[in-house]
Amino acid sequence: MPLLHRIVRKEHPPIAFTLDGRACEGRVGDTLLTAILSHVEAVRATEFSGQPRAGFCQMGACQDCWVTLADGARLRACTTPLADGMSVVTQAGRAA
Ligand code: FES
Repeated sequence: MPLLHRIVRKEHPPIAFTLDGRACEGRVGDTLLTAILSHVEAVRATEFSGQPRAGFCQMGACQDCWVTLADGARLRACTTPLADGMSVVTQAGRAA
């Protein structure tokens, strides 16, 4: 179940990316966080309680939206523009 439901940029060109190996699609102008949350409810679980997290500040300040790419790079999803071919691996994907 996605956290976000797209109401804007529906007409923008699509950008393909993968999320835990699953083919997904965002739109030109999306941040990585927007693209991910258009497909799932959270980007990670907190280290303290295990509760799902989906970003907080949306402006690169809170560190709540760190994600890992398949090549091991760690990014703040809220300040990273979605790019064609990105391959995101979540905690859930690493555990599978
Ligand atoms: S949501 Fe706060 S740094 Fe990304």
